[in-house]
Amino acid sequence: MTCSILVGGAWGDEGKGKCITYLCYNDKPDIIARAGVGPNAGHSVEFQGDKYALRLTPSGFFYTGARLLIGAGVLVDPGIFMHELDYLNRYNVKGRTFADYRCAIIEEKHKEQDKASDYLAKKIGSTGTGCGPANADRVNRIVKLARDIDEMKDYITDVPHEVNEALDNDRDVFIEGSQGFGLSLYYGTYPFVTSKDTTASTFAADVGVGPTRIDDVIVVFKSYITRVGEGPFKTEISQEEAEKMGLEEYGTVTGRRRRIGTFDMDLVRESCMINGATQIALTCVDKIYPECERVKEYSKLSAEVKKFVNEIEGETGVPVTIISTGPDLEDTIDLRNELL
Ligand code: GTP
Ligand code: IMP
Ligand code: MG
Repeated sequence: MTCSILVGGAWGDEGKGKCITYLCYNDKPDIIARAGVGPNAGHSVEFQGDKYALRLTPSGFFYTGARLLIGAGVLVDPGIFMHELDYLNRYNVKGRTFADYRCAIIEEKHKEQDKASDYLAKKIGSTGTGCGPANADRVNRIVKLARDIDEMKDYITDVPHEVNEALDNDRDVFIEGSQGFGLSLYYGTYPFVTSKDTTASTFAADVGVGPTRIDDVIVVFKSYITRVGEGPFKTEISQEEAEKMGLEEYGTVTGRRRRIGTFDMDLVRESCMINGATQIALTCVDKIYPECERVKEYSKLSAEVKKFVNEIEGETGVPVTIISTGPDLEDTIDLRNELL
């Protein structure tokens, strides 16, 4: 049995969706459990030629052998939850997607507060999805839980019991974190952060797994850095420079243009330390080194890319086990066997 956690290493949008697709397709975990803040997240999943944008459902949904669970720490917007059940209907997600009965619920008023607040919407640049105000109500102990609302009654379960029982029975559990290290309420660029810690330890707590049961923490980094919303960004470059490098990105949830910067080794080191990384997944290598587009074997990477990978490993002491060279599942170099 293996219990792995996948986390974003920077300010979100590191390509977690692609990594999760690859890992779940290959490893076929029995449970895929979503951790993290809530539907402020946007994960892009490309599978068999179709592209999906997800906010709450675990990104490994296409593996129909898994139960898809949402941990108690995650905020649920019932409208988004129901929408995704229909949207992903062809993968039979109904009947295997459940939220913990203790998930806090985002109500209309939370979204209104998030959007109407100059501080949250403008100064922080929040996603307007109601996550901050709902977490504030949770801390004030006035928020509704999934067990309190009729809409969720057919979709609730006890996530920690399911997850720990699966591990007791030698089954594999994959925990998907959302957002990224730089957005952590504790360790990120406060106050320009999200409304909760977003490191591996909190993701384990979100789904009710104790730290002693975690085997692997896979931290995902893009080969350059992006950030949406306000806040410090040490390696940021201008839009013109980014365009010259062929880099232009827009957020999945808000459609806002992402700020772009170069790879930041200090951030990467700190992120690996606080997450307790055991492996690094490196995405979008092809966008910085076009010669390695769709390369599937390590030996075929250019000397420059190998140098980049070695430098990351040298600086962090963590092995780079997944290298993504394109959006498709096959555009992945998997070095995990070399760890054995
Ligand atoms: P997370 O929030 O971390 O899941 O990232 P995201 O899914 O929000 O990232 P984004 O919305 O920027 O989507 C990434 C896009 O790039 C998707 O269409 C992916 O299929 C694609 N992608 C992922 N990895 C790679 C890669 O290694 N190379 C290229 N060229 N594209 C990739
Ligand atoms: P909130 O989480 O909506 O309150 O937004 C707070 C900050 O976190 C803003 O800068 C958002 O852009 C950022 N943020 C929240 N979730 C994500 C995510 O999944 N990807 C990237 N940025 C995010
Ligand atoms: Mg995203």
